[in-house]
Amino acid sequence: MPDNTPKPSNEDLTKRLSNARYPRSNGYDVRWTIENQMGPHALWLLEWLAPALGLDALRPGARVLDLGCGRAMTSVFLAREYDAQVTAADLWVAPDENARRIAEAGFADRVLPVHAEAHDLPFAEGSFDAIVSIDAYQYFGTNDLYLPTLTRLLKPGGRIGVVVPALREEPEGAEPPEHLKPFWDPGFWAFHTPAWWRRHWTRSGTVEVETADWLEDGWKDWLLWSEVCAEESPSEFMAGMARESVELLHADEGRALGFARVVGRRR
Ligand SMILES: C[S@@+](CC[C@H](N)C(=O)[O-])C[C@H]1O[C@@H](n2cnc3c(N)ncnc32)[C@H](O)[C@@H]1O
Repeated sequence: MPDNTPKPSNEDLTKRLSNARYPRSNGYDVRWTIENQMGPHALWLLEWLAPALGLDALRPGARVLDLGCGRAMTSVFLAREYDAQVTAADLWVAPDENARRIAEAGFADRVLPVHAEAHDLPFAEGSFDAIVSIDAYQYFGTNDLYLPTLTRLLKPGGRIGVVVPALREEPEGAEPPEHLKPFWDPGFWAFHTPAWWRRHWTRSGTVEVETADWLEDGWKDWLLWSEVCAEESPSEFMAGMARESVELLHADEGRALGFARVVGRRR
């Protein structure tokens, strides 16, 4: 059956997604963000992260590695909002695809897309003023030995900042929280509390952790965004993923799931 439900206008969608917490993100085309999303709203999460990274790490011309940049929306944001020189590194999304999107956005001179695997990054020691990673670090960063391999790419005093899906409390034992069992995916074991991340980074000895906190009501933002993507994504695959997130977040209602922000300064 064809879906004859009228599509909301861009104006309606913009109004629905406009959020006083994320004034910079409000300036981006909503259809662009929906078409290029790969999970939670990447620009909202980066806009939450940026002040904790500090003005020095994001000063004009700063060299920033956007690790696990996906479709490079966050890389464009870093260039547009902070005039940074961004390396947009990703494993699943090809640099040719990202190069087209970056050029269409008008930032080909400031964002360089590269194909990169987080364990084999082709950069010299001290290459970056800042490393950011939005909704990606959980895929590779929980290994105790990983952080030092990444922070060596920072200049001394440089900042690393990540935002990851997170848990309010570490589950005891080996079972997921009871109410999440029907939805649990083994990948969720890489979700942790801000306190877990603080300890994980601190004991690596390579950074001084400056921030490790929880986004208040982050799950509500995640739910609203997932509802919109479930209805509006042009990709049936991404719409299906968003529908699963809607079910998960409704079942949870903020009891367990949200976002952690972690920022460290290279020693
Ligand atoms: C859920 S997507 C998020 C993408 C983007 N940051 C965003 O928020 O829209 C996770 C990204 O992490 C990247 N990723 C996962 N494992 C990686 C690895 N080992 N090395 C580099 N990137 C990785 C994937 O390529 C993917 O684009």
